Amino acid sequence: MKTTVAIIGAGPSGLLLSQLLANAGIDSVIVERSSKDHVLSRIRAGVLEWGTVETLQDAGVAERCLAEGLPHDAFSIFFDGEPLRIDVAQYTGKQVMVYGQTEMTKDLIEKREAEGQTIFWSTPDAQLHDVNGDHPKVSFTNSDGKAVTLNADIIAGCDGFRGISRQAIPQQKLREFERVYPFGWLGVLVDKPPVHHELFYANHQEGFALASMRSATRSRYYVQCDSGDTVDDWTVEQFWSALATRLGPHWGPKVQTGDPIEMSIAPLRSYVAEPMRYGRLFLAGDSAHIVPPTGAKGLNLAVADVRRLAKAIESWKVLGKDEELENYSRDALDRVWKVERFSWYLSTMLHQFPEHSPFEKRMQEAEFKYVMSSEAAAKSIAENYVGLPF
Ligand code: APR
Ligand code: PHB
Repeated sequence: MKTTVAIIGAGPSGLLLSQLLANAGIDSVIVERSSKDHVLSRIRAGVLEWGTVETLQDAGVAERCLAEGLPHDAFSIFFDGEPLRIDVAQYTGKQVMVYGQTEMTKDLIEKREAEGQTIFWSTPDAQLHDVNGDHPKVSFTNSDGKAVTLNADIIAGCDGFRGISRQAIPQQKLREFERVYPFGWLGVLVDKPPVHHELFYANHQEGFALASMRSATRSRYYVQCDSGDTVDDWTVEQFWSALATRLGPHWGPKVQTGDPIEMSIAPLRSYVAEPMRYGRLFLAGDSAHIVPPTGAKGLNLAVADVRRLAKAIESWKVLGKDEELENYSRDALDRVWKVERFSWYLSTMLHQFPEHSPFEKRMQEAEFKYVMSSEAAAKSIAENYVGLPF
């Protein structure tokens, strides 16, 4: 079997890359470890930068997002109950779009299947070969149990943090950077109207909380929990009580509680692997980097990688120019590190760190008070939150 681009992973990165390549007349084959149902069952983030929405429009998959998504002008930060509204529309002229990653993945799968895209679902044994040579290939067993060898010009590693692509880069060639945070996020999805039509991020002495949503009738809430916690360590009542306390006396009592349709814990880490390229293998999305969810950047950073990689492959394949491919890792990492910085900055400002000294607690408080008092500081947060220019 032969294709121009073998894509490992049918998450947002792999699916969007396949769509952008197809729109440029470039064929690809996607190899996905999990079943389609499993991929579609994942509950993930929910805030799209406007640049992400524009990329979905360019890809021809933004119709439902524009029809059902919730455009937001602003979000608020609460520090020990003190509110600060960051009006991103006023500061940047741009909005963000609240639209679940699950919905975006559903839209991409529908479009790819409608266009006859080859996606090998449920293939957990994929292996990469000759990625640093001229004839890279992917071997795997398809769902019929048949051994398949997929020859490609390029392999795109869109297989997330625990995939195989980054592992295909020799350890001596790889530079890894990591910060593991001493807490996690316990998230709840509930079919109740959100406490407010905008997002609330709260740093309370008991811990961080986030009030978000998926629609006018479905809410997404998070509370900071200990890094060793499991869902079994929390009752639903304890979750609602912690959320109400951390949102403060005005908004806490207004939360409409109910039985969650989903409850899960996510660890928080910052991680970057350099380079994002090895021979004919190019990494995009979570396979190359992880950000804490505080800045809602994971999905948006993956989209930025894929947008850049698709343009570079098109330039190479259609125009015969490989300069963008040669510069892909350098240019993608330039944005990755700026987004890592913002996600780390917000996480550091908004969470309770067990190991913080009294001095560091004062630094956190001073940072918030500075942002409250400085339009320049608030504008800086706004321009990062809506998305740095591509
Ligand atoms: N072979 C084939 N597919 C694999 C393999 C493998 N060995 N390992 C992982 N995969 C698949 C996973 O099953 C998943 O569907 O690769 C896909 C990776 O998807 P994501 O982890 O969602 O990563 P990405 O597409 O880069 O999207 C990043 O998703 O996880 C969130 O927070 C993250 O919002 C960010 C976005
Ligand atoms: C979400 O709605 O899941 C969400 C929103 C904003 C974040 C993180 C997660 O920063």
